[in-house]
Amino acid sequence: MKLWSGSFSVETNKQANDFQSSIHFDSRMYREDIEGSKAHAAMLASADIISNSAADEIISELDRILADIESGKVTFTSDNEDIHMNIESLLTERIGQNGKRLHTARSRNDQVAVDLRMYIKREISEICGGLKSLIEAITDTASNHLETIMPGYTHLQRAQPITFAHHIMAYAEMFFRDYERLADCYTRTDVSPLGSCALATTTYQIDRNMTASSLGFSTISRNSLDAVSDRDFVIELASALSIIMMHLSRICEEIILWSSHEFSFISLDESFSTGSSIMPQKKNPDVAELIRGKAGRVYGNLMGILTVMKSLPLAYNKDMQEDKECIFDSIDTVKQCLSVFVPMFLGIVVNKSKMYNAAAEGFLNATDCADYLTRKGAPFRDAYTVTGSIIKYCTEKGLKIEDLDISELKSFSPLFDEDIYASLDLLDCVKQRNAPGGPAPECVLSHIEWMKKQLDQIEN
Ligand code: ARG
Repeated sequence: MKLWSGSFSVETNKQANDFQSSIHFDSRMYREDIEGSKAHAAMLASADIISNSAADEIISELDRILADIESGKVTFTSDNEDIHMNIESLLTERIGQNGKRLHTARSRNDQVAVDLRMYIKREISEICGGLKSLIEAITDTASNHLETIMPGYTHLQRAQPITFAHHIMAYAEMFFRDYERLADCYTRTDVSPLGSCALATTTYQIDRNMTASSLGFSTISRNSLDAVSDRDFVIELASALSIIMMHLSRICEEIILWSSHEFSFISLDESFSTGSSIMPQKKNPDVAELIRGKAGRVYGNLMGILTVMKSLPLAYNKDMQEDKECIFDSIDTVKQCLSVFVPMFLGIVVNKSKMYNAAAEGFLNATDCADYLTRKGAPFRDAYTVTGSIIKYCTEKGLKIEDLDISELKSFSPLFDEDIYASLDLLDCVKQRNAPGGPAPECVLSHIEWMKKQLDQIEN
């Protein structure tokens, strides 16, 4: 029997009932729902709205319901529509009259908003932990590759020599910003809507600050209509998760490229690769590919929630129930991707000589040659032109710049001296680039140290 059967003359249509039920996906908020109800009951008693004994009975039965759910003794039903009504009706079944007092000065509209905010806060903290492990994996790997030369690319064309440490620390920065974005999103989620009730608060003298602080919220919402109709915090999280997936898809794309025969910069541990059912030589980077692919569904979820919320009039509308599957899927996907990415990344074997040889082909030290001439007094544009003709000459002869002897070099410019060879050495090229943020080992090392300090400050 429905709660509203007193004012309705017919029963809910079976199809409509199943259609609007959300219990199959919102049951995952059972802990938050029970916690929220306990705080609400305690507040009702302290504000003399219900008796202390009623509140005590409600609270201890809610604890038993929690234990029963966790030990698998409870079966939820779509007849009770959602997690909120399932728990309330269990409570009433078990304790009778006092169970019916719980929903005083409350509505499912503020209840679902408070549950979802608590759930999201918990998940944000978990995802932040996942990002922290990822950044740690990157900084630890980078520490071992401060002098591992590789080509740096623009337009996927070899450009200038950098190091593997410098390259992967770029990702550490991206994931650190992702962490900060989540922390920021947490702040805006950390606002209690409880007490806003259906849309216009209540005639009871409730204590909103009491429930907020007992549920661990930093503050309370300032407008009851906004509090029950706002899902910005969901959209913001969906967006931050999309950005994480975008970053993961970029590093996965590079892992896929680097592990290809064409690059052979790295090899993946066999435990994170798969073979082919027909081609015995294959070792496929499926995990990296799948993470790259899963960015699609997380972006889709963001579009889904944005579209659900578009043009909705105030305050609560049932459309908003559609927020949950989207955000739950994005949360699950990101957590899963982070947890499989980290061990896969740590299992990567770097082929230093392949990386070095790739950096040694393709005149990656051409800018260094031009810089050398500029340091000796040539205007940079002239040095650039001279270097261009050297490259043309070398390309025709199949040589590198450093293969030319000093007299050949001097025929291009009298400014060349024996010290040019040191300037063309790839490790030297990298070491010279020691402006803050550059690939010079000392710069990357201080970046790694800075990052480790940031990670140390993050509480687990
Ligand atoms: N299951 C609903 C949701 O997720 C809870 C709120 C329902 N409120 C209502 N008045 N129908 O949005």
